[in-house]
Amino acid sequence: MEAKGEYTASAEREDQQLGRIHAYLSRSYWAKGIPLEKVATSIQNSLCVGVFLKGEQVGFSRVVTDRTTFAYLCDVYVLEEHRGRGLASWMMRIIRAHPDLQGLRRFLLATRDAHELYRRHGFAAVKRPESLMEILNPSYFQDPGEPPAPGP
Ligand SMILES: CC(C)(COP(=O)(O)OP(=O)(O)OC[C@H]1O[C@@H](n2cnc3c(N)ncnc32)[C@H](O)[C@@H]1OP(=O)(O)O)[C@@H](O)C(=O)NCCC(=O)NCCS
Repeated sequence: MEAKGEYTASAEREDQQLGRIHAYLSRSYWAKGIPLEKVATSIQNSLCVGVFLKGEQVGFSRVVTDRTTFAYLCDVYVLEEHRGRGLASWMMRIIRAHPDLQGLRRFLLATRDAHELYRRHGFAAVKRPESLMEILNPSYFQDPGEPPAPGP
């Protein structure tokens, strides 16, 4: 555990608080309606960093990775009342310094509007976007009948 004022941070999977993470992600713009079991499995299979205050998780980031060639950063959030205190930047520094994320060939992310945050931590716009392809299902977590979330 690292500390920043009253806040602590952890990259240990067992420290991540599934219920609180699901509570945020299921109302986020990119994973609205995601079921608890999917969040549990995603945490189980990822490198996760959390920020905590008085034992409660207030921020989260998840890296999907083989821990040697490739990583994909996603599910980054800080709860509303804790924003603007450098907590997301702190999580980014922890992730960029993590021993399992060194020497990667490619580290990707997708964002709707937080480019500036990530730019400060080494990310840049994809040079040749035409070289990247995807299979995207924007209505994956949506209740039937609801309009699809815009996604990142
Ligand atoms: C984005 C988010 C994680 C930032 O968390 P935070 O702890 O407030 O961020 P920090 O205090 O470390 O500051 C981040 C810096 O990035 C900047 N920034 C750039 N884009 C931003 C954005 N879309 N939202 C918030 N900050 C942004 C901030 O202005 C700040 O710069 P400053 O220190 O010069 O003011 C938080 O606002 C959040 O949870 N937003 C909703 C979920 C989300 O959009 N997550 C990102 C998905 S890709």
